[in-house]
Amino acid sequence: MTDLIIRPGTDDDIPAIVSADERGFSARMSELERADAFTVLPPENFLLAVDSGDPVDGVVGVAAAYDMAMTLPGGAALPSRGVAWVSVPATHRRRGILRALMAEQLRGFVEAGTPLAILTASHASIYGRFGYGEATRNRTVEIDPRFAQFRAGAPDPGGVRYAETAEIGEHAAEIHRRWVARTPGAVSRSAAWWARFLHDREYSRGGGTRRFHLVHPDGWVTYRSHWGGEAPTLRAEVFAVTDESHAALWRVLLAQELVRSVTARIPLDDPLPLLLTDPRIVATTEVADGLWARVLDVPTVLSARRYAVEVDTVLDVQDDFLGRGGRFRLQGGPDGATCTPTSDAAQVTLDVADLGSLVTGCVRARTLAAAARLAAEPAELARLDAAFVPERDPVHGTDF
Ligand SMILES: CC(C)(COP(=O)(O)OP(=O)(O)OC[C@H]1O[C@@H](n2cnc3c(N)ncnc32)[C@H](O)[C@@H]1OP(=O)(O)O)[C@@H](O)C(=O)NCCC(=O)NCCS
Repeated sequence: MTDLIIRPGTDDDIPAIVSADERGFSARMSELERADAFTVLPPENFLLAVDSGDPVDGVVGVAAAYDMAMTLPGGAALPSRGVAWVSVPATHRRRGILRALMAEQLRGFVEAGTPLAILTASHASIYGRFGYGEATRNRTVEIDPRFAQFRAGAPDPGGVRYAETAEIGEHAAEIHRRWVARTPGAVSRSAAWWARFLHDREYSRGGGTRRFHLVHPDGWVTYRSHWGGEAPTLRAEVFAVTDESHAALWRVLLAQELVRSVTARIPLDDPLPLLLTDPRIVATTEVADGLWARVLDVPTVLSARRYAVEVDTVLDVQDDFLGRGGRFRLQGGPDGATCTPTSDAAQVTLDVADLGSLVTGCVRARTLAAAARLAAEPAELARLDAAFVPERDPVHGTDF
């Protein structure tokens, strides 16, 4: 390799970006998918690592970033850059190209004043070294609806109807906004993202049917049927803003007949099993890391969050990769918080990646301490642990 240059993408780079993605993820993008992709994420949102001596297309690394927001416990939406399309070709791996791209990209986010970077990872072992920590968990469940029986006394509010994709737009976007606002770790969707969603293109169906929608005044479910064997599986996404809409929508989803199973990603603390006479039929088939968060501005992030109980502590945040750490006094509670740099002695020490896990409430302070990733005296740890518990378990709701 000759000189490595890192620069933003342009329209002219689209073919090279697509080639890199197709090679990196064994994918094939049609003209239509390509056009849609660069409408949602324009080429200038890409950073390219270019080997000036490469005889083919010169692009030896790609990393892009969406403009998004992520919800913190308490409901504040924090501007975030959503990192995606990360790849380095097999010919150039393990030479530090990803590291160089990550450093440049994060420096750019800091310069622009962005407090948080987020991503979903192909391997859970890659991004910790760049300061990302696990911020939400995906729990996938599979339910055989033949055995689903709701308990006597479980809410049965009704009010659910089917809707077509052509008429769903406004309602879905409004429900999603309300759902994001009440859900720690949830990420926003842009207007361009919704436009692509509403096209429901063939390429996005993964072998499933077109989308079906169930709507309720306070909730929305979208699903596809995927045929396999003698009966299909329904793959559903559930966005319920109230307990009533949650029960109403699940009642209709589990009333489906002639289907093998209903699968969905639900939060770890989802009340669904408790609505049923046999909670075990909500079989968890996977729990895995979901969103990863990288704190770029400790005071902004920690002061935007709300805390379950009063907290007053000094955190020593270590950030070897980007140097955004230091010592910070955090004073907060259920109604608000302040966080400022301080020279006072630290009561809690942790890495910036683990702060990314703590901030959404994905991993408890006690759990980090048990894994020797956070240090604090026992009484301080108990207070910190209680303060960072979120109002509900974090989920992100949109892969990107
Ligand atoms: C993952 C990928 C981008 C890494 O690129 P790369 O240029 O080889 O990475 P680097 O040489 O900069 O490695 C940086 C560090 O990450 C580690 N690393 C890189 N890829 C890794 C992987 N897949 N699993 C675990 N660690 C990995 C390296 O060992 C290195 O560690 P070190 O800093 O302790 O030495 C590349 O392998 C790839 O394109 N894979 C296929 C597509 C993909 O998975 N993309 C990520 C999508 S989220």
